[in-house]
Amino acid sequence: MDNQRFEGKVAIVTGGASGIGFACSAIFARGGARVVIADINEEIGNRAVSDIKGEGGDAIFTRTDVGRPADVEAMVEAAIQSFGRLDIAVNNAGIGGESAPTGSYSIEGWDKVISINLSSVFYCMRYEIPRMLESGGGSIVNMASILGSVGFANSPAYVAAKHGVVGLTKNAALEYAKQGVRVNSVGPGFIVTPLIEQSMDEATQAYISGLHAMGRMGEPQEVADMVAFLCSDQASFMTGGYYLVDGGYTAQ
Ligand code: NAI
Repeated sequence: MDNQRFEGKVAIVTGGASGIGFACSAIFARGGARVVIADINEEIGNRAVSDIKGEGGDAIFTRTDVGRPADVEAMVEAAIQSFGRLDIAVNNAGIGGESAPTGSYSIEGWDKVISINLSSVFYCMRYEIPRMLESGGGSIVNMASILGSVGFANSPAYVAAKHGVVGLTKNAALEYAKQGVRVNSVGPGFIVTPLIEQSMDEATQAYISGLHAMGRMGEPQEVADMVAFLCSDQASFMTGGYYLVDGGYTAQ
């Protein structure tokens, strides 16, 4: 435990078993929160729970497909049944999807990315917010991307979904600002995670690194540090924002 800034809090992290999501789960657990790791992949989900418990933290795994509203409702209920309240939610699960220009992108590919990367964020907030209101307030971070503010050729569904996440975030922030629920989004640049490692060869990774002013991709921990700050009491006047963690990608 490196500090106790989340002592007594209960946090849900979707896609919490890998990459950025796992870094978020771990930082909350180290801060004293009880963590619900919600992920479609049971094997890595259970491993993530053991890793956190091995460090002295408290976490459970709930198998969740964030593209299915019934799964998302059950995820929130699992948090309440296991830990009695909900204070923090990081709606992070996402996929890259196919790579093709708009004129040949498959309809099925579009529907899948919009479901998992955008509709899921609505489903999550739909079920999380009422429970946070019962707990006296809370903080939500929705995982957008730099592609929530700029385009990226051959990724129409991903770019549309992430722009949508930024908009949904602003809307929910306005609706609940006076009731103590803060809602923000984070826009990472390219981050070295399984999502990137599985979809890019080494030459592509070198090219992508060069698109960031710092000349490298980011690490999951660098995103988790921003998420943790936004979910902490230090961010008490921050809602409706979109915060880049992008090594200067969008500055050029
Ligand atoms: P990752 O692939 O390492 O982790 C994603 C996690 O989500 C995995 O554990 C996976 O099992 C889970 N997941 C996938 N589909 C799911 C579903 N339908 N329901 C529940 N869980 C599901 O990916 P990474 O890179 O950590 O990405 C996390 C988020 O960050 C995504 O929303 C992604 O779009 C976003 N992001 C990632 C960037 C990167 O360069 N890695 C850059 C900007 C944003």
